[in-house]
Parts: sequence; structure tokens; C-alpha cells
Amino acid sequence: MLAFAASVALIVNAQPLTDCRIFIYSPGQSEGLHIARFTDNAWQHAGRLCSSDYGTWGAEKRMYHPSVCHAQDGTWRLVFQVNDHSPQFAAAYSRDLVNWRPQDYPIMSTKQCLAPVVFENPDGTFDIYFKSAEGKRWTSATPNFRDFTPDRASMIDDDAWLRDTATVDGKLYEGSEFEISPMEWAKIERHFQKSGEDWRKTNERMHDDATVLSGITAATRLQATLTVDQTQQKPISDKLIGIFFEDISYAADGGLYAELIQNRDFEYTPRDHQGWNATTAWHSSRPIEIATEHPLSPNNPHYALLWPDTLWNEGWDGIVVEKGKKYDFSMYVLAGGQKQDFAIQLVGQDGTVLAKSKLKTQATDWQQYTTVLTAKGSDTKARLAIVPLKAAHVGIDMISLFPQETFMNRKNGLRRDLAQVIADLHPKFVRFPGGCMSHGQGLENIYHWQHTVGPLQDRKPDFNIWHYHQTRGLGFYEYFQFCEDIGAEPLPVLAAGVPCQNSANNAQGIGGQQGGIPMDQMPAYVEELLNMIEWANGDPATSEWAKMRADAGHPAPFNLKYIGIGNEDIISTVFEERFTMIARAIRAKYPDIKICGTVGPFHAPSADYQEGWEFTRRNPDLQYMVDEHYYESTGWFLHNRHYYDSYDRQSAKVYLGEWAASTKVKRPNIETALAEALYLTDIERNGDVVEMTSYAPMLSKDGHSNWNPDMIYFSNTEVRPTPAYHVQRLFSVNSGDRYINSTLTVPSGFPGDKDLMHRLGASVVKDSKTGKTFLKLVNALPCELQLTVNGLDIPATARTEGFSGAPEDQKLTIESGQTGQGGSLIVMPPYSFRVIEL
Ligand code: AHR
Repeated sequence: MLAFAASVALIVNAQPLTDCRIFIYSPGQSEGLHIARFTDNAWQHAGRLCSSDYGTWGAEKRMYHPSVCHAQDGTWRLVFQVNDHSPQFAAAYSRDLVNWRPQDYPIMSTKQCLAPVVFENPDGTFDIYFKSAEGKRWTSATPNFRDFTPDRASMIDDDAWLRDTATVDGKLYEGSEFEISPMEWAKIERHFQKSGEDWRKTNERMHDDATVLSGITAATRLQATLTVDQTQQKPISDKLIGIFFEDISYAADGGLYAELIQNRDFEYTPRDHQGWNATTAWHSSRPIEIATEHPLSPNNPHYALLWPDTLWNEGWDGIVVEKGKKYDFSMYVLAGGQKQDFAIQLVGQDGTVLAKSKLKTQATDWQQYTTVLTAKGSDTKARLAIVPLKAAHVGIDMISLFPQETFMNRKNGLRRDLAQVIADLHPKFVRFPGGCMSHGQGLENIYHWQHTVGPLQDRKPDFNIWHYHQTRGLGFYEYFQFCEDIGAEPLPVLAAGVPCQNSANNAQGIGGQQGGIPMDQMPAYVEELLNMIEWANGDPATSEWAKMRADAGHPAPFNLKYIGIGNEDIISTVFEERFTMIARAIRAKYPDIKICGTVGPFHAPSADYQEGWEFTRRNPDLQYMVDEHYYESTGWFLHNRHYYDSYDRQSAKVYLGEWAASTKVKRPNIETALAEALYLTDIERNGDVVEMTSYAPMLSKDGHSNWNPDMIYFSNTEVRPTPAYHVQRLFSVNSGDRYINSTLTVPSGFPGDKDLMHRLGASVVKDSKTGKTFLKLVNALPCELQLTVNGLDIPATARTEGFSGAPEDQKLTIESGQTGQGGSLIVMPPYSFRVIEL
């Protein structure tokens, strides 16, 4: 291929000469790929074209030495170096320089891929040349910029690395110069103009209203009309509002999972969190001895060897003990047949023993002992004490304490107050176990559902991508049970054979998607996913997997209908081949299961979104719906109210699986709640294409937050639903399966002479099972809205629920009652949301 390099340069430069000279370069390793245009005798910076998507946030996502080639077919091909230690380079292509296909990171045999350069061959294939640290040259070929041949040594000379230079904004850069047609340039310019306008809209904030919305004040009375046309109806999804559950911010261990003992299995490691080890959360007057010689389970190798000293556990920031309440204590003991007695106590902060019991044991091999502790006093930060009553040197493991009052009183259950607040939302489905936690931090951390079922001591703990530990005590059985208990469809989302695209480098220096599960191991992974469906739905009489479910206490099938494959992955070649393999196998064996794919972490026009949807359209038989994610500013939601209006109704359905509106304060408030309420009126209007939505993340424990905003904040003693929660609840409990058309109009002479329709919302839905109709109204303006409703009969006794407040209020009071005044006029206070049941 060496000989082609020179001729390639000719082809690249053989574009028709025009007056648009462009220069493509990177101004810095974190800046991505930029474009400048030569005009007025100088290079003028125009904007950023794309950026690196390789590896972890912050530490990686770097672009070094980008090399661009303008191919004969008019497309643009880009390669760049991702760092100085990975055996990978990045490859992407674009038709117009502004929309880029998601990046691929082919894995080479060399330890590094430095300064890659790309050349097109006369036959339309490409050669990539790069160097290793000692200066050797290598090459890989690709027919399509997706499949890359293994690299081999090359003798290409230094000329291949010659680059153009240009001075942009006073600085000299290396890069590539091209000529493009004025039409092509106009398109690029329009793209940057549109991005600028979008950026301005995205920054619209309600708390600036007093200065920005001149002419509209608290004294303004805005009159509008809502015309409801009952003859215009369409069926919509009856599962629009569900919940997203991920063990992030201590949502599971230390959160919803009611276990009160931290590190109950002595399996914490520094991989979970820097500085953690098997004794974290445990205390004793002498160093705690940890052994592994005779483990309780191969999946649970560490246990403590107890000396005569008392062993203390601090719980999760303390243990909440309530007077009169009962607590189930259990512990595995290994004592070589000796009699060993223990005092088990819950001790308050001042040393008071709040509850105690004696545990008599005589265990030859590992044996579980249980006792019930009844609290005689209360404390919010008690500790557990295990006091050996004889000189002891016994093994103990899986030390557990649960309140007897869990949600629905289930054993190994959920924290009652927290689960109840979730249940009150009446979610129509529960997505679990994540988020990023599903696809994991690297290949070894991919969530394997079968590691989370069966006896607790046999479940396989793992580190959590959010920098703590997963016990897996809250596992697939418990998730499915919770769904059943609250009447929600289970929606398990499992990895598409690739880990999180933000994964750090593995031992070979391979980061991001890490090349995916090797293809020769994919059949086993596919089987694992099929087994999950079998476990959930199969017949215990004929299926080993279903028998496991029955043995755990649930002989009846869980009636699983949906499965999610992948979580906002890069829609790379590696992803697509693995997803296809998994989806085909599920379709073949379980044709009734609805598969949900993924279209990346951002909304249109992001690269993964575009490629994900293209992939969906190319494979119409594979996916029933796709999972879209976007966390955005309130301004974005206000100005994208029509996002789904033009979606193809014949293509896959949408699951808006992660979304939330945010302000700089990063906490839900009235402003974010109103933006979400407005958007949900639009989602209801598009409920024929949007099948499901879930706000994310759902839970965050005080002091352990990985992410903001969240829907519900909690501590050991408190549960604090936010304004975001109330919006979700109000839409969920007042939902329907039919959308009734309505038109909201404001007479001309709108105060302030601005188009403010994006701040008003209305939606009418009907539940055909109960016959109830729900009218939802949103006024996100700083003035009163006097709304005349035509086409709906609103009696004075109609139930109404909602809220109003100042945009920055993080607390709200739910106002409920009856509309009070019959007739067609509804008065909405400034910044308010109302649901009216008819
Ligand atoms: O919801 C928090 C995280 O956001 C999820 O884990 C991930 O899917 C998304 O990036």
C-alpha cells in the first residue's frame, strides 16, 4: 500500500477549485476537531466539528493529531490518536463535516497507535498509517471505515506525516487544508448559526423572566382559550410514566435495600472505593482478622475471625433503631463444633443498649443462626455489637440485620418508607438495574443478572461504577418481586455485550467499549440473556432456570414482556454486531418479548442518536422500541416541545428512559418541574409513538450523591420527594390510554409582544377503563392565565390537584380540592400546574 500514498494525495486534492478554502485542525487535545475558513486574507475560526468520545470523562476524551481525508465519494474520513498508551486509534466519517458517524476504536497489535494518518486508495479503500513509541511504522487497511485489518509493519516514509499549517486567531496550527463548494460551506455555516440560536434558546431560564419578558408582570391577566375536540381522539400508551432504578447515589445498598449492616460479607475492596477493604464499616479494639481459607461460598471468599473482642458495625451512616420495632438478625458461624455464645446488641450513640439477644451456636461447618431483637429505645445512629461470650476464635460471615417492617413485609426486603413513596407514584413499569451500572465499568464489570439471584451468600458482589460496592442482595428476584408488588411491568436493561463507553483502560490499555465481549464469548453471553427470560417466565416443571425462581419462592411466572439491550452505548461497529446477535437470538426464541434498543446518550442531532435510529430503521424486525436519553436545561425543554411530533409512526416506539430538566442549581425546583410538566403534555400528545418515559436518576442518599438533580432525596430517617416527583406522580396517577385533541390559543396582542406559547401547555387524556377524563394545564409564565375551555364540561365538584410557586422554590405544597367554580373559565396562577379530573 506504500505506493498509494502519493497518488492518494492527488486524489484528495482533486476537488473542483472554488473560492472556499477550509482548514481542519485541533486547537488542543481537549478541544476536538475544528474548522476555519480562509476569508478576508486570513483564516477565520468557524466552529467545532466533533470531539473525542474515547475513554473516561475528564481523564480521557482527548484528540491528538487528527488526520482528515476527503474521499472520492465526497465523504470525510477522520482518524486521530486517543492517547499515548492504548493500542487503538479513533476512526469516524462524515458526509458533510458536521454530522459524524459514532467513532470506532479498532484494536491493533502494537502497544500504541501514535499520530495516525489516513489515505484513500484509488479503489476507494483506505490505509491508516501510525507509529509505535519506538518510531516504527505500521499500517491497517479498511474497505469501509468500520472493519480494519490487523496491523502490520510498514516502510512508509516520513512524507506521509507532512501536514498543512495555518494561523488561526493568531496561533499557528498543523492540520489539513481543503477546498469545498460554496454550497457545502453554506451548509456548514447554517449548522453553526443554528447551533448558536439553539444555544441561546437553551439558556432561557424562568428566573430571568422579570428582566427578559418585558411587558408581562405579576399584574398581567393573560386570556387564552382551550378548544377540546372530543371527536378527534387517538389511542396512546397506557405506560407512559414509569421509574428508572439504578444503584447510583446509594440507591440500593444503604438505600432502598433494607439491610442495615454495611459490608455484611467482608467483601469490600479498594476496587469499590479507594481505601476500602474487607474490614470497612467494622470496628474492634484490635485489628480485625480476615480469612479466606474456608469460605462460606466461592463467591463470598472473605470472612472475619472473631477474637474475644466485641465487633462493631457502623451501619450505613449509623443504624436507625425505633423503640418497639423488631429486627431480624442473622449470622453464619464456623466454629469447628465448639459451643460459642454471642450477645448481639444494638447500642445507641451514648452507649445505651437499645436491643439485645443471645445467640447460642455450635457450628461444625458454616451454619446460619438467627435471632430477633426488639428495640427498647430509639436512636438514629446506633451500632451493632457482636460480643463473643467465651474466648473465641470463630469464623463469622454474612452478618445481617433487617427491620421486620419492610415494604409488604418481605424478607430480604425494601425500606418501607422509601418503597412506599415510589409505590405512590403508581409507575407503570420499573427499569432496572441501571443506567451505567448495567453495562459496567469495563468488560469485567458488566452486570450479569445470574450473579444476583439465589442464596444471598452465593450472589456475586462487585464494584459499582459509581465508586462503591454492590452486594447484589437487591437482585433480579427482588426487582421482579417489587414490580409485582406495585403492579408495574418489569423492564430489565442488560448490556449489549459492550461496557460503558466511558470505561477506563483495562490492563491492555484498551478503554471505552474495550472492543466488546470477544466474539467467541458472545454465544455464552447471549445464552445468559435467554436464560434470564427463561428464569422469569419459564415453567419450573421443565426449565432449570424457572425452577430456580420457584425455589426462591415464586413458582408463577413473572410475566416478563420487555427487555432492554444496551444503555446509551456508542453505536459503534462493535456495538452493532453484538446487539444484532443478541436481538436475533431473543426474537428467534421468544418472539413475544419486546426488545428495546438504545440510541446513545444524547438527543438529536448527536452522532449516536442518528446512527442508532439509522440502525433501527435498517433492522426493523429487531427492536420494538428504542431508549432515548437526554438531560437538558429547562430552556431546551421549553423550545423542543414538538420533538416527537414528526417521528415516524411506522418505525420503532420510543422509550424516553432517562431524562430530567435542570438549571444551574442542579436541584429540582418549580422551574424544572414546570418544564417537565410542559414536556409531558407533549409526550401525551405523542403517546402513539412514545411508549414509556422515566425520569432519572430516581434516588439519591444525602452525603452519597453521584448525580444531581434526582427525583427523590433521602437520608436514613427522611424521604424527600422533589417537585420533579410530584410532576411524575400527577401524570402517572392521572393517565389515560386515549388522547383527545385540543388547541390552545392566545388572542393577538399577546402582552410583551412575544411568542410565549412555549410556556403554556394543555393535554386531555381519557382512561377508557374507568371512563375518566383528565385535563392537565401548565402555565409557566409569571402572570395569571385566564383560560376559557370549550368542548369539556367542567363541574364545580371536579377534583383538582396541582401546585404553584416561584421558579426557584425547591419545595412545593400540593394544592388539592375541587375546581369550585363550574363553567368554562379556569384561572391558573403564575407558574402553576393543575390536573382536573372529569
Ligand atoms: O442516570 C445517571 C446516569 O446517566 C446513568 O447511569 C447513565 O445511563 C446516564 O449517563
